[in-house]
Amino acid sequence: MNATTKNVSRGLAAAALASALTFPAQASDADAIARGQTLYAAHCADCHGAGGEGTKDGPAVVGKGALPMNPPSGARMRESEFRTALDVAQFVVKNMPGDDAGSLEAEEYWAILAFALHANGVASSAPVDAESAAKIVLHE
Ligand code: HEC
Repeated sequence: MNATTKNVSRGLAAAALASALTFPAQASDADAIARGQTLYAAHCADCHGAGGEGTKDGPAVVGKGALPMNPPSGARMRESEFRTALDVAQFVVKNMPGDDAGSLEAEEYWAILAFALHANGVASSAPVDAESAAKIVLHE
């Protein structure tokens, strides 16, 4: 495969993912993180804690040991591994908020993911979207 073909097929794979999830890219990472923080507080903090530390109603999503590769013991919804940030995004879009799954706009989920990655000290060199999230490896 020459370089052009490779780039085209990589582009196609990314486009397929992006359209499967219909997640538009964010304007900028800093904007997304700030917006994600507000959205997290409104839609996620009740169960996952103001700082993502977890409550009796939801596991920790920020901090050491949060977002483990394998579903935590006793998990009722999660069956998938979290290898990349895209895996987390797919789980969240399908299942979260726990009491109103799928109720947010795609772009809002991306902003929350950008915020959560930032809070976990995971840097993304590109705005967090389907293409960049697939490359953010959380667990080898
Ligand atoms: C009504 C409570 C509730 C709300 C609101 C809620 N969650 Fe959850 N969340 C849960 C519960 C309970 C689980 C554990 C699911 C299971 O049993 O597999 C969970 C699991 C998760 C996980 C996977 C954690 C892991 O280690 O397996 C992520 C990530 C997550 N939630 C993100 C979010 C985000 C982002 C929002 C806001 C958009 C949100 N949640 C809103 C209750 C909630």
